[in-house]
Amino acid sequence: MKFDTACVRAGITPDPTTGAIVPPIYQTATYVLEEVGVTKGFDYTRSSNPTRQTLEAALAGVEGARHGATFASGMAAVDAVLRTFDAGTHVICSDDVYGGVSRLFNTVLARHGFEFTYVDTSYPERVAAAVRPNTRLIWMETPTNPLLKVADVAAISAIGKAHGILVAVDSTFCTPAILRPLEQGADLAMHSTTKYLSGHNQIIGGVVLTNDDDWYQKLRYQQKALGAIPSPFDSWLVMMGLKTLHLRMARHSASGLLVARWLAAHPKVEKVNYPGLESHPFHDVARRTMNGYSGMISFELRGGLEAGRTLMNSVQLCALAESLGAVETMITHPATMTHAAVPRADRLARGLTDGLVRLSVGI
Ligand SMILES: Cc1ncc(COP(=O)(O)O)c(C=O)c1O
Repeated sequence: MKFDTACVRAGITPDPTTGAIVPPIYQTATYVLEEVGVTKGFDYTRSSNPTRQTLEAALAGVEGARHGATFASGMAAVDAVLRTFDAGTHVICSDDVYGGVSRLFNTVLARHGFEFTYVDTSYPERVAAAVRPNTRLIWMETPTNPLLKVADVAAISAIGKAHGILVAVDSTFCTPAILRPLEQGADLAMHSTTKYLSGHNQIIGGVVLTNDDDWYQKLRYQQKALGAIPSPFDSWLVMMGLKTLHLRMARHSASGLLVARWLAAHPKVEKVNYPGLESHPFHDVARRTMNGYSGMISFELRGGLEAGRTLMNSVQLCALAESLGAVETMITHPATMTHAAVPRADRLARGLTDGLVRLSVGI
């Protein structure tokens, strides 16, 4: 199937009992056995559920992957991947990774014997230099949240292959409409389905996609063992959102570029981070490896905290809200919102200035 067709049709067939074009929601905890040891393919919804299974087939079809395993949130998906490794594992991670991911790594998994090194994954040579004998995983995000740093998935995947290290890409900002990490050599693609894949601010969810049968079995095991699975209704809602992914992403990209250009020309804006602008330091990598630039922009206002507060309190149609990737335009100010608890010096060291604003351009 071509991509646009896959968004509408992949993994979905008319319901065999009624012909319903929209798959039913199997809102059930358990399944009655025909006799001891004989099931119709399902025994308990934590292990598998027909609605979730349909969503997983749809997501795999859209990503061009053999398998998909869904989770109750993007964070649960990240956690499921990490927990397949043993204590003592060293992980190389993008330095501007989503704050929830670094929180999981630094405050939870570090206590269970994991070691993390944060590097700017825009520079493959820095990733190669960080490899240690116990490195088992490269966790990369591209473009990063919130500074929109861009990495070359193929270059980093080649480093992973050379050292026998798994490469996982958090592709939440791009979706398969824009970036195809598995086709560029990554082992796993992960998304917070909360964002563009569902697209309407209607659920919290996550998915990990792979072409590797063994990895799929490991992820299925994590679903069953940890139990952080999406409900049948949430699975169904993602399935409905997915059908317009190609249309939404084209509009998010087109509008994102218009807004980024407008901001770049604005006298009260110091700097705009958007991979689609020629001024982005890795615009060439983005142009070569991505199909569009998505709707995520960050920019620095002149006037620091004061300017940030004034803008946040003046917006009318932009929703002052902590998420992204939905049909509505959403705006956040890391210094007073998402990163308010981070000491200012640490925040500045990460490049999160007082005037930094993140915009998720809607449709
Ligand atoms: C890039 C990225 N990865 C992962 C997550 C976590 O996803 P969730 O909020 O669905 O747990 C987010 C959430 O903002 C994100 O932006």
